[in-house]
Amino acid sequence: MSSFDSNLYQYAVKEAQAAVNADEQGNYRQAINKYQRAADILLQFMKYNKNPQMRILCQEKVETFLERVKVLKAHLGGPKARAKKSTPSSSTPSDGEPKEQSGLVSAEEQELIDSIEGTILAESPDVKWADIAGLEDCKQALREAIVLPMIKPQLFTGARKPWSGILLFGPPGCGKTLLAKAAATECQATFFSVSSADLLSKWLGESEKLISSLFKVARIKAPSLIFMDEIDSLTTTRGSGHEGGGERRVKTQLLQEIQGVKSTHDKPMLVLGATNRPWDIDTAMLSRFEKKVYVPLPDMPARAGIFKIHTEGINSSLTEEDFIELAVRSEGYSGRDISNVCREVIMIPIRELDMGGLLEHSDQEVVVRDITLKDFMKTIKKIKPMTTGKELDRYGDWAQEFGEF
Ligand SMILES: Nc1ncnc2c1ncn2[C@@H]1O[C@H](COP(=O)(O)OP(=O)(O)OP(=O)(O)O)[C@@H](O)[C@H]1O
Ligand SMILES: [Mg+2]
Repeated sequence: MSSFDSNLYQYAVKEAQAAVNADEQGNYRQAINKYQRAADILLQFMKYNKNPQMRILCQEKVETFLERVKVLKAHLGGPKARAKKSTPSSSTPSDGEPKEQSGLVSAEEQELIDSIEGTILAESPDVKWADIAGLEDCKQALREAIVLPMIKPQLFTGARKPWSGILLFGPPGCGKTLLAKAAATECQATFFSVSSADLLSKWLGESEKLISSLFKVARIKAPSLIFMDEIDSLTTTRGSGHEGGGERRVKTQLLQEIQGVKSTHDKPMLVLGATNRPWDIDTAMLSRFEKKVYVPLPDMPARAGIFKIHTEGINSSLTEEDFIELAVRSEGYSGRDISNVCREVIMIPIRELDMGGLLEHSDQEVVVRDITLKDFMKTIKKIKPMTTGKELDRYGDWAQEFGEF
């Protein structure tokens, strides 16, 4: 099997498993959707795979899935026959308000929701501001732009309009994704997390459907935060050499949808993009993000804080001064680099026990020693920062030209 075939097959298996799970849990609408999708993918797969046995196997599976879809649809009495049901939205319906925003979800809308569930719709993430060291300016910018308009919409009327598109940019591993998650947790909006992999499932031609469902569902479930990570890869053709018609359509549609958010948000709804390659984003997309927030490498106090966060709960002999010493020694390190250092250090005492043969008997009591400043010093020498000075200059220049800080 080629890697393309194998990916496709794995994808089908994943969808089929999700279908069976949903079926077992009584989520029949979602099950229908997933069975259907698994069958579609297998049919695609059969176009490429010439192995006769494999094709028979797939054909059987497709038939089984479609049979189950029929049974479930009959069981539900057909999608159109169902009554509207309400969702736990905070909104109250009022005259003249578009149905989408009324908090009542029709059967068709419920189907849309099911269709993106699992692929895009994420549970509210459990990251708090306190889990992020430093970045005070960024936190404040996000509070003003996301949290306050969502928890106090009455303050953001008239000319004081909330932003509808915000871009977080900066070197890799410095907390962009963390910030987005914390903002979503703090404002208690429905959080949609979209990666380029979700949206560019090109071979199925499903991207456009997915994007349009995503924005519709976000409108239904407002207040919503749509987080588009690695937005550069959604909007450029980096590496591909040329842009296919399908891809162009997807991008155009994405631009239109984001534009739509801008013009009709009487219910808070916001698109938050993140990228570590801001220069790769085309200007049409860039202009959709009214506010651009630079998420830089952590400064010294932030680095000390990151060391603390990532060694929490571990027995350690480090003093306050030691953490400052570490912060001084880790100039140029990103949060991810520091987290890697900590993970390595935390393993040192365990590794020592193992090498001493002390972990061989499960019933034997073992004492794990404290981690020390020396462990950190040794490890910092081995793990080097990922971002070079030259790259940093590039972020700085871009921030000067387009950014906030
Ligand atoms: N300020 C911070 N405080 C605590 N941990 C941090 C901080 N910044 C980064 N980290 C750690 O580094 C990891 C990577 O951070 P994150 O995923 O937010 O980076 P990113 O900016 O989105 O990177 P990329 O551009 O590669 O997507 C986090 O999971 C966390 O463990
Ligand atoms: Mg990220």
